[in-house]
Amino acid sequence: MAAMFESEAKGLPLLRRGKVRDVYQPSTEHLLIVACDRISAFDSVLPTPIPDKGRILTQISNFWFEKTAHIIPNHIVDPNPGPQWYPDIDWYYPDLDGRTVLVRATQPLVIEAIVRGYLSGSGWKEYQKQGTVCSIQLPAGLTESAQLPEPIFTPSTKATSGHDENIPFETAAELIGADLAAKVRDTSLALYKFAAEHALERGIIIADTKFEFGLLGAPAAAGAPAGAGPGAGDLILIDEILTPDSSRFWPADDYAPGRAQASYDKQYVRDYLEAIKWNKEPPAPPLPPEVVEKTREKYWEAVHRLTA
Ligand SMILES: Nc1ncnc2c1ncn2[C@@H]1O[C@H](COP(=O)(O)OP(=O)(O)OP(=O)(O)O)[C@@H](O)[C@H]1O
Ligand SMILES: [Mg+2]
Repeated sequence: MAAMFESEAKGLPLLRRGKVRDVYQPSTEHLLIVACDRISAFDSVLPTPIPDKGRILTQISNFWFEKTAHIIPNHIVDPNPGPQWYPDIDWYYPDLDGRTVLVRATQPLVIEAIVRGYLSGSGWKEYQKQGTVCSIQLPAGLTESAQLPEPIFTPSTKATSGHDENIPFETAAELIGADLAAKVRDTSLALYKFAAEHALERGIIIADTKFEFGLLGAPAAAGAPAGAGPGAGDLILIDEILTPDSSRFWPADDYAPGRAQASYDKQYVRDYLEAIKWNKEPPAPPLPPEVVEKTREKYWEAVHRLTA
């Protein structure tokens, strides 16, 4: 089974390779984002890709972009661009099909918009120490993985290196302005509530999730009629949304507070890496075929459950 570890859209300028996605900039207005099959665990990219993972993430993210467009406009220009774009450049090859999106380039906000519906990860750590998450006071006596009384907005800085840092809402407001911070908060909470309800009906708990927003710089496409869509200065949703890479997905049928939950997609990978006692220092070890296959099945299961 062919997997794509790295993309190569020849002729298009490569802006960056992230842990999972390769970003090209074909023009000042547009970016081309390719979700590869790389998988990371314990902060390292593994040498073994999961076939189709990038396609599945792209399908999930595109599904949500379409479904949430009534809440906020997003960056998608073409959810599955083909060779008709940039006809003068020989950039397209069929391996990109289904894992690539053409988007409007924005100025990304310097904060990440995290929403938590359950107590886990860095939220659980902070709560144990001081009863708060991102300085939001929570009721006493909550256990690990407990559902919060209400979803909360817990922004973080976007660290260029190392770990992102949780910040109080007030700090987010200082960084991007109070009005914009309030809009980001309200929109993120609305997106989370909408998606969490949809996912739960399909057996998936979205415990928490991260959104990124950007501001449009360039005016809307020349010739676009007034009111045709977002224009210069407008806030739009960017990056990927509500995927297992940007969120904690838990299988609803074995949810039980008071302990850590199995991850919907990465459980086999983490279990394997623990079992072989990898010290979690790079380089990460390769995965055996049965772990790859089981993980791939989990990604397919997620896309089928969510989008069917
Ligand atoms: N419409 C957009 N305008 C500008 N930047 C964008 C847009 N959509 C996504 N991005 C940026 O593209 C990058 C996507 O790459 P990727 O997700 O692989 O990197 P990352 O999540 O920042 O880092 P890593 O995956 O290495 O931890 C992110 O930096 C994201 O902010
Ligand atoms: Mg990312």
